[in-house]
Amino acid sequence: MYMKIIIANWKMYLSEKDAIALAVKIAKVKTGNKVILAPSFTAIPAVTKAVKLSIAGQNMFWQGYGAYTGEICGEELKSLGCKYVILGHSERRKYYKETDEMIRQKVEYAQKLGLTPVLCVGETEEEKKAGKTLEVVKRQLKIALQTIGLAKPNKIIIAYEPVWAIGTGNPENPQNANMVQGEIKKQAGTLLRQGSAGQALPVLYGGSVDSKNFSGFLAEKNIDGFLVGGASTKWEEFKEIIQEA
Ligand code: PGA
Repeated sequence: MYMKIIIANWKMYLSEKDAIALAVKIAKVKTGNKVILAPSFTAIPAVTKAVKLSIAGQNMFWQGYGAYTGEICGEELKSLGCKYVILGHSERRKYYKETDEMIRQKVEYAQKLGLTPVLCVGETEEEKKAGKTLEVVKRQLKIALQTIGLAKPNKIIIAYEPVWAIGTGNPENPQNANMVQGEIKKQAGTLLRQGSAGQALPVLYGGSVDSKNFSGFLAEKNIDGFLVGGASTKWEEFKEIIQEA
């Protein structure tokens, strides 16, 4: 067994007070895994003050300080103590019409700043039904990664999140996720000019992971951890995942 990366994507679920309370409990759990919390922006200062866990932003703009009303830049995330930033989440793609090209610019800017991007890719239900999963995921990766070259593969994390599995209680089955994630490693390794070292690139699974189903993914060799949404906001659920994974 090796260390898994488990990211809690708290989306817009928790108030600052609830975020602090949950973070404090999580920080006390004894685990051999790498746990990263992604609170909403407004809760980041309080959470970083309360616990020593690694923190991720849930999004950022693709440029530095400037006239971009309502946006947050990577410099701001860094100054709050974030080391990671989730980019290209399907909720951003869906509700804010983020395109592959916008996500590419964000990935590139995060890299420039030394923030580790957690790049999310995944197909919709229609795309899956049409047998286009690999085509879609490969396109998303190709565009997002085409302009960056990495010195080390561990400076990016990729999360495979089938859109139809997010928040539905209906996860992808571990064998299929493993197959897609193997292809992700191969393609990302080529794009990042890592060759076979691409195998070392961490690829997480996300989409309805909970305390009942996570163990089914653990035996799969291309699944290096989880991006957990709903279940990460529930103490008992998340405790079990980070302890037992
Ligand atoms: P979920 O969300 O665990 O609630 O399905 C995962 C995600 O959106 O990152």
